[in-house]
Amino acid sequence: MPRPKLLIYGVASVDGRLTLAPDVLLLFGDERWSALAKPSGIYEQILAEYKPQAWIEGSNSFVTADHTPDPLPPADDDPAELHQDFLPAGVVERSAPKGWFTVVDSRGRVRWYYTGEPGKEAPGSGGEHLLVFVTRRTPVEYLAYLRRENVPYLLAGDEQVDLPLALEKLRTQLGVERLISTSPGILGGALLRAGLVDEFHLEIFPAVIGGTWTPSLFAAPDLGPGEWPARLKLLSAQAQGGGHLWLRYEVVHE
Ligand SMILES: NC(=O)c1ccc[n+]([C@@H]2O[C@H](COP(=O)([O-])OP(=O)(O)OC[C@H]3O[C@@H](n4cnc5c(N)ncnc54)[C@H](OP(=O)(O)O)[C@@H]3O)[C@@H](O)[C@H]2O)c1
Repeated sequence: MPRPKLLIYGVASVDGRLTLAPDVLLLFGDERWSALAKPSGIYEQILAEYKPQAWIEGSNSFVTADHTPDPLPPADDDPAELHQDFLPAGVVERSAPKGWFTVVDSRGRVRWYYTGEPGKEAPGSGGEHLLVFVTRRTPVEYLAYLRRENVPYLLAGDEQVDLPLALEKLRTQLGVERLISTSPGILGGALLRAGLVDEFHLEIFPAVIGGTWTPSLFAAPDLGPGEWPARLKLLSAQAQGGGHLWLRYEVVHE
């Protein structure tokens, strides 16, 4: 099945925590995280070398795991039509060269301010256009909302997003060859278990956060008796300023 190469990048404390507590979304800033995990330039270096054409991110970066979304107006459109991929030609022509910011949101929980439409670009972004992965369980009101906002979406699966199919669609329908994810927690765990990850770049900063439910690297169901851990090959290990470590791994595919 054709799919893009996928590199996952994550910033973690020495104990693998990705944020400070379950309800802390780093998107909205946290002074403790800013003080401890000061930007080191590693991410910018990865972007310059890897030149991703798309990102794939988890919905928990935008809303907390227990978030209840605001209700949406009823959908007037035909449900059969709503359950088709939505790739407006004008958006694809304009956005393909700038890249895609894709988000997995089968439950339709995120309401978007920055969509990538002219005048709605995220500050400091490279002009990537938002694209949402949905499934047959995604509420039709949400699909209608995405269409009203001119946000493209791709349907992949019935319940949770079928990640192999999602990546296949990115490759075959949008020509994405190099994909990056900066969601190394639950989404990273699902991508890794599905055998879709090629490289993992881990930036460790010198702190221990601890916690019981605090999001951590590659969170996934416990391994069954016959299941094997993902095997990694170390490509390089570099100490950076501020006590940061940059570990680059290739995922070994048997
Ligand atoms: N330090 C870092 O590098 C870093 C980076 C990003 C985020 N963060 C922080 O980490 C927290 C969020 O991370 P998280 O681990 O809680 O969540 P997450 O990585 O956003 O994972 C949740 C996402 O995974 C999807 N998902 C889960 N299991 C799946 C499966 N089996 N198949 C397909 N899709 C699946 C969910 O889809 P549905 O929505 O469809 O259910 C959802 O989109 C936030 O606090 C954020 O600020 C830290």
